[in-house]
Amino acid sequence: MARVELRHLSRRFSGVQALADVDLAVESGEFFTLLGPSGCGKTTLLRTVAGFVRQDAGEVWIGGRRVDDVPVWKRDIGLVFQDYAIFPHMSVGDNVAFGLANRRRPRQEAAERVARALELVRLPGLAARMPHQLSGGQQQRVGLARAIVIEPKVLLMDEPLSNLDAKLRIEMRDDIRDLQHALGITTLYVTHDQEEALVLSDRICVMQSGRVHQVGTPWEVYDRPATLFVASFVGAMNVIADVPVAPGGQVALGASPRALPALAGRDRVTLAIRLEDMAVAGPGAAASPDALVVEGAVEKVSFAGREAFYRLRLDSGAELAAHVHRPERRTLASPGARLALALPVARLHLFDPATGVRIDGAA
Ligand SMILES: Nc1ncnc2c1ncn2[C@@H]1O[C@H](COP(=O)(O)OP(=O)(O)OP(=O)(O)O)[C@@H](O)[C@H]1O
Ligand SMILES: [Mg+2]
Repeated sequence: MARVELRHLSRRFSGVQALADVDLAVESGEFFTLLGPSGCGKTTLLRTVAGFVRQDAGEVWIGGRRVDDVPVWKRDIGLVFQDYAIFPHMSVGDNVAFGLANRRRPRQEAAERVARALELVRLPGLAARMPHQLSGGQQQRVGLARAIVIEPKVLLMDEPLSNLDAKLRIEMRDDIRDLQHALGITTLYVTHDQEEALVLSDRICVMQSGRVHQVGTPWEVYDRPATLFVASFVGAMNVIADVPVAPGGQVALGASPRALPALAGRDRVTLAIRLEDMAVAGPGAAASPDALVVEGAVEKVSFAGREAFYRLRLDSGAELAAHVHRPERRTLASPGARLALALPVARLHLFDPATGVRIDGAA
């Protein structure tokens, strides 16, 4: 177990800023996930920690030691890749033992450790199999066993589930979480799948264009997104961009504008609210101290039993999607009908339209 510290890391590739002043610490034993869209720098960051990429500026520390001049094989890390990277001509056991072979272990001890690693990834007794006799999920388990057999200080995983089908992905995801808990190994995990990140992580780092937008627990990232980018990337969010604000902080949205103290002195705001955070309001409902009420025409309704999905065109022209749990019959408005939605003030996210940075104190 070791703490990983990245100090002001930057890396450019011919005109692309792959990492821009990334400064963060992964605590000892933590499951820490890098989340962001394709090309945002996740793999580059992971490879910099591993030592395959050399940063232009900044420092990498593992377990209290600066490792910038330490080669990959001496950094004491386990690596799991998207494409399994196991050797097709070697048995499962030999693949797993590969990490140990370089470390001059006695044979008996090596065999025991391989058997234990295979048990941990739930492939007990498969050491003699060849990789082509395994499913994709099993091959990735071999990759995982090979990474943990050396008992590394840090485990690095780059999209290890992305080549698996949806069902296997969920099964394997739970196993990775259990294994990480059991071993207590500091883990740096890369994914562009926000649900995977939420389910697996102690903390998530959301990145875009080489920059860190937010580091926080899954709850913080979902419920208190630091920027409009995080709000839109993690989970589904309605965004109503660039809404005018009256001098008293009233948002000009809906029939009876309500003042939001956080907006006093601003002239515009970008509002966001999650699909599941709105409720259907009665016809002619007025704004309350707790909620803004907006009205519009229903464009689409889908009833799916325990939930219903609405698409509403507000009178201001903005579009809102709502996801209503346990819908009632009277609220299943048909397309063309008018519908009012209550937007609880406590669930509104406010962002500066110019910078996309969160404005706090909405409630
Ligand atoms: N060796 C390289 N040479 C040139 N450009 C590179 C190199 N490695 C990465 N890049 C560029 O740096 C940026 C970040 O790439 P990186 O692979 O880190 O993204 P990523 O977040 O892992 O994306 P993905 O989700 O698609 O794997 C991209 O614009 C990429 O094209
Ligand atoms: Mg990548």
